[in-house]
Amino acid sequence: MDDFRIRDGELHCEEVSLAEIAAAVGTPVYVYSTYAMCRNAAGLADALEGVDNPLIAYAVKANSNAAVVATLAAAGLGADVVSGGEYRRSRAAGVAPDKIVFSGVGKTEAEMALALSGGLFQFNVESFEEAETLSTVATQMGLTAPIAFRVNPAVGAGGHAKITTGAAENKFGIPIGDAAEIYAGAAKLPGLNIQGVAVHIGSQLASLEPLEEAFAKIGELIAQLRSNGHLIATADLGGGLGVPYNPDLPPPPKPEDYAAMVRRATSGWDARLLFEPGRLIVASAGVLLSRVIRVKPGAEHPFVIVDAAMNDLMRPALYEAWHKIDAVRPNAETWTANVVGPVCETGDTFATARSMDKVGAGDLVVFRTAGAYAATMSSTYNSRPLTPEVLVHGDRWAVVRPRVDVEAMIAADSIPDWVTGCTA
Ligand code: LLP
Repeated sequence: MDDFRIRDGELHCEEVSLAEIAAAVGTPVYVYSTYAMCRNAAGLADALEGVDNPLIAYAVKANSNAAVVATLAAAGLGADVVSGGEYRRSRAAGVAPDKIVFSGVGKTEAEMALALSGGLFQFNVESFEEAETLSTVATQMGLTAPIAFRVNPAVGAGGHAKITTGAAENKFGIPIGDAAEIYAGAAKLPGLNIQGVAVHIGSQLASLEPLEEAFAKIGELIAQLRSNGHLIATADLGGGLGVPYNPDLPPPPKPEDYAAMVRRATSGWDARLLFEPGRLIVASAGVLLSRVIRVKPGAEHPFVIVDAAMNDLMRPALYEAWHKIDAVRPNAETWTANVVGPVCETGDTFATARSMDKVGAGDLVVFRTAGAYAATMSSTYNSRPLTPEVLVHGDRWAVVRPRVDVEAMIAADSIPDWVTGCTA
């Protein structure tokens, strides 16, 4: 079921009219469906039935709105965090410490201390150097840090080069060929408790083969590490499963197929499995709602200029990502148009020569599948206020992040009294 559907001629999120939200909050605005994210989370959990006690740690970077994280925490998910900010957000939203995994290639000592004092399930450590620092920090605090090493399996995959993480040349993890030596070295560090291995090869994966190849290598590594005397109790398989953005392209593998592959690939591992899905949980649960400012003629196709821009939804500019664009009140007419934002860069283009609903000035449109890596990647470029966010649940809705007032943005900067101009 699609939680964004036409009722009485106009697009709704669950029971709520998007036009009503636009009138009340203004545009652009992100709108999220509670049902959609809960169904996505339950769908993965159901698919993983038969896997003993999995920990599904939602990758908070995909959508870190407190109301979203709280919804998913209440649904039983943990959190995969990559900064002190995400750790604190997750705790504030009700995620239990023993469901938090701390990932990331550049954890600072302050971030390590924060998570150690608040508690967590494990750090996914990305280098021997990081392990040494973490051991020192934990020892100074009189604690032992639970860790897994993130292993780089030299299997890269992903929807775009910028979101591929498992290739040997990528910055992530320890090279799988060095793992035995690094685990042996880390086992001598006093502040660590080595409990597992972790892997994440990329995002928006369109096929299961690279994942299965990486998991096979991890399976061999687990056996080798155990024969070297390490207790390997956990295996974190990362996230990465793709979602359909373009209905005209073949869809990525379904969670059921992913889960069947996981069961096959991990059979006999005898380790607690962890998962770090982000996009799969929230992408389809969000839209970016925007209003057409005006339409102007173009060399080949008209330009539909909307009030959302690359600062609100960066994925098309950064990764050539494709988001479906629909009219909120479709009138059965379609055309081919370019959809662009007001920012002063040619890169501020959402779609080129797109066949879509015909729209005119004042009409509302949505960018679909914008629940993941959308609001979290927004900025104030061109002094545009950060996009507000709305959460819908049935016939209820609430602004879960207000639009930042431009006055407040200006007031956040300060002009020292010695600023007088460019004189010496
Ligand atoms: N675990 C780790 C260690 C990660 O680095 C990531 C994503 C995930 C889990 C979650 O991956 P997912 O299940 O969402 O694919 N901004 C990009 C995506 C960047 C992904 C970064 N890491 C985009 O908009 O496509």
